[in-house]
Amino acid sequence: MSSQTLREARKYEEASAKMIHSDDRPSFHLSTRVGWMNDPNGFSYYGGKYHMFYQYHPYDPNWGPMHWGHAVSEDLLHWEYLPAALAPDEPYDRDGCFSGSAVTLPDGRQLLMYTGVVKERQWSGGFQEVQTQCLAVGDGIDYEKYEMNPVLDEKDLPEGSSRFDFRDPKMWQKEDGTYCCIVGNRPADGSGQILLYTSPDGFQWKFKSILASNRKRFGKMWECPDFFQLDGKWVLLTSPQDMLPHGFEYHNGNGTLCLIGDFDEEAGTFQDQHDQSIDYGIDFYAPQTLLMPDGRRVMIGWMQNWDTCQQRAKDVLWFGQMSLPRELSIKNGRLYQRPIRELDAFRSNKVAYQDITFSDTIKLEGIKGRRVDIELNIRPGDEQNLYHKFALRFAQNEKYQTSLSFRPRENILKVDRKYSGSRRAIIHQRRSKVKSENGMIKLRVILDRFSVEVFVNDGEQVLSATLYTSQSADGILFYADGTVNMDVVKYDLIV
Ligand code: FRU
Repeated sequence: MSSQTLREARKYEEASAKMIHSDDRPSFHLSTRVGWMNDPNGFSYYGGKYHMFYQYHPYDPNWGPMHWGHAVSEDLLHWEYLPAALAPDEPYDRDGCFSGSAVTLPDGRQLLMYTGVVKERQWSGGFQEVQTQCLAVGDGIDYEKYEMNPVLDEKDLPEGSSRFDFRDPKMWQKEDGTYCCIVGNRPADGSGQILLYTSPDGFQWKFKSILASNRKRFGKMWECPDFFQLDGKWVLLTSPQDMLPHGFEYHNGNGTLCLIGDFDEEAGTFQDQHDQSIDYGIDFYAPQTLLMPDGRRVMIGWMQNWDTCQQRAKDVLWFGQMSLPRELSIKNGRLYQRPIRELDAFRSNKVAYQDITFSDTIKLEGIKGRRVDIELNIRPGDEQNLYHKFALRFAQNEKYQTSLSFRPRENILKVDRKYSGSRRAIIHQRRSKVKSENGMIKLRVILDRFSVEVFVNDGEQVLSATLYTSQSADGILFYADGTVNMDVVKYDLIV
C-alpha cells in the first residue's frame, strides 16, 4: 500500500510535469520529471528495461525532502517517466530517502536499498541527520518498504565511525548468489571510508570489513561509492566532499575520484594503485554504474555539482540532469569513457571538412547547432612554428558563447562558460592538463541543449559542463592563434 505522501507526490508530478515543454528540457539526457534532481540511484536492468531512479524533490527546483524519482529506457537515451518510487513516509526515513541502488531477487522482484534519514536534536543545539540503510521491494513500478527496516544502523558500524555520515549503499550480487554492498562513511579521522557488508539473501546484512580508507588523501567524506571489476582490475568510484586542489587533477569542493587497484576478496580490502578524477569539467558528481546484459560497464553521473547549483535556467520548473551514459574501460592503467555507442544511431546530417588550415576565426558552412556531435582532429598548421591556441566556440551569438580552448605549449584544455549568460559569481571555467604531443589532440564534443561533454583523446579524459544560454545562440566558430590544421566532422543528434 502506498502512503499518502507518495500518492500526493505522484499526483503532483503527473500534473505539473505537463507544464514543462519537451523543447525546454535536454533532448537525450535524462532530466528530472519536475522539481529538483540530484544523484542517480538504483541504476539497473530489470524486466527488460533500464531503470534509473534519482534523488528527487518534485515540489520545488531546489533540494528538499528526498524522494526517489523513476524513469525507464530501452536504449539509455529515450526515457519514459514512471511514478515516483519512494517518499519519506516512515519513522526511519521521515527526513529523506537518500541515495542507493537496486538488484534483482531470485523470485523476480526488484530490491532497492537506500539511506533513511532522520533528524535528531543534539544536546549541543541544532540537529544532525542520523543515517541508516533501508530496503524496499517491488515490481518495477510500486515498491513496498521492508517491515524490518532499517537493516543497517549504528550497531553495524566499526568503532569510531559516524552514524551521521553513513550513506549511499551500492549493492551487487556475487556469482554464488549472495550479495554485497558498500556504504560511504566517516571514520574517527574525519575523512572518509567505504564499508563492506555481505548478505546471504539481500535482507540480512552483516559488516565484513573496511573496504577502503581515505586517510585524508582525497577530500573528506566519501559519498556515493561504486565498486566493480573492469578489464582485470577493480575500480572504486566515489565522490569526495571538501576537496583541496591538486595540480590540475583535483579541484576545490565536491569532486570525483576513481581508484584502480586490486581487491582481496577474503579480507574484503581494496588496495589502490592509481587515482584520477572521473570528470575534469565543472558539472559532474555521484556517478553510478551498471553492468549491461552484453557485458558493457556503463556509468551515468549527476551532471551538476553542489558548488555550482546557482548555474540554472530561470523561471523553469526543473533543475538537474544526468550525464550521457558512458562506456567504461581501462587503458594504460587509466579509466577511459566513451559516449554509449547507441548514440551513433541518432547522428544525422553529416558535414565533414578535412585538412582545413586557418589562423584566425572561421565559420564553416553547415556547422552549427545545440544538439550536435562534433569530432575534431587538431594538428599544427606549421610544423616549424607551433600554434599558441586553438578554440571551439559554441552556443554562440553576438552576445554569448561557451568555449573550449587548447594551448599546446602547456597542454591545457579549458572549458569556459563565463560568457554563456550566467549572472552568478560562481566557477565558470575549468582547466585540465591533457596528453598531447606536438600540438595534436583529438576531441569529441557533444552538445544537448543545456550541456557540453568533451571526450578527449578517445575517452582518456572527459569534461562536462551545463550551460543555459538561449537555444537561439547556436553558432559554432573555430579560432586559431598561430596556424592550426584540422579535420572536423559534425552530426546533428536527432534523438
Ligand atoms: C550526494 C549526496 C548523497 C546523499 C544525497 C542526498 O550528492 O549528498 O551523499 O545520499 O546526495 O540527496
